[in-house]
Amino acid sequence: VNAPRKQATAALTATALLLVIGATADAAELSAAKPCPLPKRPPGTVSEPGQALRRTGRCVPQERERIRTVGIPPYTDGSTGLGDPYFPSAGNGGYDAKNYDVTLAYRSPDKHIDAVVKMTATATQALSGFSLDLRGLRVRSVLVDGLPAVFRRERQELMVTPATPLPRGRSFTTVVRYSGRPGPLSGPMLGTYGWIPTQDGILTLSEPDGTPTWMPVNDHPRDKATYTFRVTVPNWLQVIANGEPRPPVRGAATTTYTWVERSPMASYLAMIAIGRFRTLRGRAGSLPVITAVDPQYAGAAGKLHRTTIAVLNWQRSLFGRYPFATGGGVIDDPDVGYALETQERPVYAGFVPDTDFIVHELAHQWFGNSVSLTAWPDIWLNEGFATYAEWLWQEHRTAKAKKGRRDTAKKIFTRYYRQPADSPIFQPPPGQPGRRDLFGFSVYIRGAMCLQALRQRIGDRAFFRTLRAWIAERRHGNGRTADFVALAERQSGRQLDRLFHAWLYAKGKPRDW
Ligand code: ARG
Ligand code: ZN
Repeated sequence: VNAPRKQATAALTATALLLVIGATADAAELSAAKPCPLPKRPPGTVSEPGQALRRTGRCVPQERERIRTVGIPPYTDGSTGLGDPYFPSAGNGGYDAKNYDVTLAYRSPDKHIDAVVKMTATATQALSGFSLDLRGLRVRSVLVDGLPAVFRRERQELMVTPATPLPRGRSFTTVVRYSGRPGPLSGPMLGTYGWIPTQDGILTLSEPDGTPTWMPVNDHPRDKATYTFRVTVPNWLQVIANGEPRPPVRGAATTTYTWVERSPMASYLAMIAIGRFRTLRGRAGSLPVITAVDPQYAGAAGKLHRTTIAVLNWQRSLFGRYPFATGGGVIDDPDVGYALETQERPVYAGFVPDTDFIVHELAHQWFGNSVSLTAWPDIWLNEGFATYAEWLWQEHRTAKAKKGRRDTAKKIFTRYYRQPADSPIFQPPPGQPGRRDLFGFSVYIRGAMCLQALRQRIGDRAFFRTLRAWIAERRHGNGRTADFVALAERQSGRQLDRLFHAWLYAKGKPRDW
């Protein structure tokens, strides 16, 4: 987005120079020919480099016109990051991805892949080049609008220079053909993520920045897109992914499974699971629900399926309509120690989730998936809210119990509030946790406590109105903490700066708010 000015000037000079050299040769060669008619170009656009020199018939390009054309705005390379405070090189500037069509052939037993990703995007600036995020793997070719493009790799960037620059507003396709054996990432606090081998196949769990381990992508939640996954596997394996399944196509030795995610999705939520699964299909009201579990967990399939349906029904009554076309859940075997709210179909990795866990991951479908972060420091908007949904579930579940046995969100808050000030549930402040504590306790617990503090301040009516309005106004979009604060103030008519500051940004255990 913020291409440096210097680069722009350099590109301009280089182009101008080329044109002058070209013009000299042309002029000598064709001194007898007529001048070309002036090219007609809409105002504000630039002729493609070299185009002014291209001869149509037997005429001499008009030098003045060429220079005038060149003097208009430059094509520059899109930035190689979006400047996220925690992941500065995640995502790329200059274009808006609309759809990824992922075709992937998986080989067993070596887990090698041959893949083709076709990204359809719109240029948001006049682009001489742009980049995608991709880690490892071997890129075989890149086509832009069907023409071979020049590309190079630099750390996590795949930098692409199309044969023809892209005017601002142009819709274009990029086809990346690549292959190799992807592997996972790992980091402190993040554990193992990205492309993860399982006993009978693979599983992708990519929050926060693991999707480039297996596909080229504009890897930032600010650029959501729709996806189609077409995955070919040996006949004895199956594939589960986000969204809706299409009928599998069976060949002599391999079967191709297609899944379509029709709602905009943040890249870290893209999920494919290859392996053997016990699959259950049902409905929550009219919503199709697909549950798939690794055979090791076959005994838990029914319970996961039924709980998912019950929880989705309850959450719809609380948060408003479900934002996507299907629901469900997956249990697979890698023991990475967490679950991920992969869109439409969360994954529980290496364990059978209890109801709280299911409530948490399904709440993310509204909070985090439909309404996504604008930048990673706002992670409490995902985790604080999903944790608070667990508290609401306890409140709902025990609503009819005897008074002393009711587990209200207020009681849960009070229990946590008794913890000492130096407890990891209180620091770092969840509104600015730092990259290392992105998924630390305080983001989850103190984040949820912030919502309970808000609820107590503005009352149930305004509080639940705020949650629903957040979801309704930003469906399939993004939000920031400041937007949520402004919305809560609008819904309640109160000034809430102090409360949010105390709970999200102040050091230590919040005291007065
Ligand atoms: N969003 C997930 C959850 O709510 C946590 C993901 C953590 N990511 C990771 N690489 N460990 O449970
Ligand atoms: Zn979560």
